[in-house]
Amino acid sequence: MIGIYFSGTGNTKYCLEKFVALYDRKVEIIPLEDAGTPEKMAYHKDIIFAYPIYYSNLPKIVRDFICENSDVWRGKRIFIITTMGLFSGDGAGVSARLFKRYGAQVWGGLHLKMPDCICDVKALKRTPAQNKQIVMKAEERIKSAIYNLKNGTPTKNGLGLLCHIAGLLGQRLWFYHKTQEYSAKIQIDSSTCIKCGKCAAVCPMNNLSLSEDKVIADGRCTLCYRCVNQCSKKAITILGKQVIFQHSVYDFH
Ligand SMILES: Cc1cc2nc3c(=O)[nH]c(=O)nc-3n(C[C@H](O)[C@H](O)[C@H](O)COP(=O)(O)O)c2cc1C
Repeated sequence: MIGIYFSGTGNTKYCLEKFVALYDRKVEIIPLEDAGTPEKMAYHKDIIFAYPIYYSNLPKIVRDFICENSDVWRGKRIFIITTMGLFSGDGAGVSARLFKRYGAQVWGGLHLKMPDCICDVKALKRTPAQNKQIVMKAEERIKSAIYNLKNGTPTKNGLGLLCHIAGLLGQRLWFYHKTQEYSAKIQIDSSTCIKCGKCAAVCPMNNLSLSEDKVIADGRCTLCYRCVNQCSKKAITILGKQVIFQHSVYDFH
């Protein structure tokens, strides 16, 4: 078994780490953006595949990874974990349908509500105490999902027809376009930016680079919010205009 994940700001990585620690400590987990990931995946029949939900859909980087490696999924058994700030409907279902199309068996699905990572928009902001509660509840859900998996009755969150309809009507139909292409929305305030290069170093898309006097974005942002949450000068925004509360799940631990 191997764990593959995409995690913009740490929630999904955190959940997968917890999952694996309780299920089988020997399972390796690797980020999907690492160059060697598809090759490593090929050696394992069982895969735990984890990602965050964007607009009740797959982040573009995750969809591309699944489609670009379409020949790897045949014969695999995949357990899907998704994290979300509030609701997704069929968060696990959106990748499950692709995996099935490429010949994989979907083993189960687990939806985990986690703190919201969009740190430049006021909606869904909670106090640290509330976020801690949310993380603790997610950990409880992970424990019971593992109990079910070990007993041969894996959870099926987000995989049924009703979930599919809820995902479509809840958000995806209206926001479909937001995750179909990479984005050029990112803004870097050059009066605050100190050109430390951290944003460029952490970007999973290699979308950011340092020129002589500023950071340049190349229009390939997957909206993961890693740079926005990690910029020490709060100089980067995407959907909002000002950074309100930078997020790290490890603060609530
Ligand atoms: C662009 C974007 C869109 C999002 N859309 C949703 C959504 O539709 N529903 C939801 O519950 N959470 C949504 N979220 C919140 C994230 O899914 C959530 O915070 C997730 O746990 C982040 O995981 P990560 O830290 O591993 O990146 C969205 C986040 C971003 C950045």
